[in-house]
Amino acid sequence: MTSLTLAFDVYGTLFDTRGVVDVLRSMVGDIAEDLVDTWRSKQLEYSFRRGVMNKYVDFAICTEQALQYTLLHHGVQMSVVEKRSLLDFYKKLPIYPDARACLSELKSTRHEVFAFSNGSERAVRDLIHSAGINQCFTGVVSVEGVRMFKPHISVYEHFNKSSYSEKSNTWLVSGNSFDVIGAADYGMKTVFVRRLKTNILDPWDISPTATVNSLEELPGVIEEQS
Ligand code: LAC
Repeated sequence: MTSLTLAFDVYGTLFDTRGVVDVLRSMVGDIAEDLVDTWRSKQLEYSFRRGVMNKYVDFAICTEQALQYTLLHHGVQMSVVEKRSLLDFYKKLPIYPDARACLSELKSTRHEVFAFSNGSERAVRDLIHSAGINQCFTGVVSVEGVRMFKPHISVYEHFNKSSYSEKSNTWLVSGNSFDVIGAADYGMKTVFVRRLKTNILDPWDISPTATVNSLEELPGVIEEQS
């Protein structure tokens, strides 16, 4: 039985970026659903564009600027206090219940478990602390160490260097298609977390090692492979 290194993506895999929708609804009503989708896709677009332009900033800046764009795009007025409280909420996003179950099961295994994110180490530590799951992790690896965003190859190399692991023994677990494709292309094993049928793996002719509908399936998949 080998000990594997598991790299869990954070936003959209362990934590629900749509978790902000109820707070948003109390501020803007039914268009909250649209706003939350625009917000997340702009946040990622900004990280990709900053990567291409080599203009790294803390991921929290991408989040904040994407919120500003979203409000302008949807023609929504929001007070400074409301914006602040939304951004504060983003620091305490809800954990997916299947993620909590999976992490707690992995605690009793020999595998090394890391949170690996575009978010700063501080932001990720705050999130896992507020969800009460910090004891589930061997460590946290943030892209801030290389000032680049996923899916640039340097961030996956950085993960292996920082966690003293080898790519052949590392599993990237992510609900973000671009992350799975980036890690697979670099040479990691990958698990695509597809909670919803609408979460499509981009048709780039790159397949994940495994796909799960819930993180509760992950420990079993990992055991089969180790
Ligand atoms: C993360 C991004 C992909 O947590 O949301 O790295």
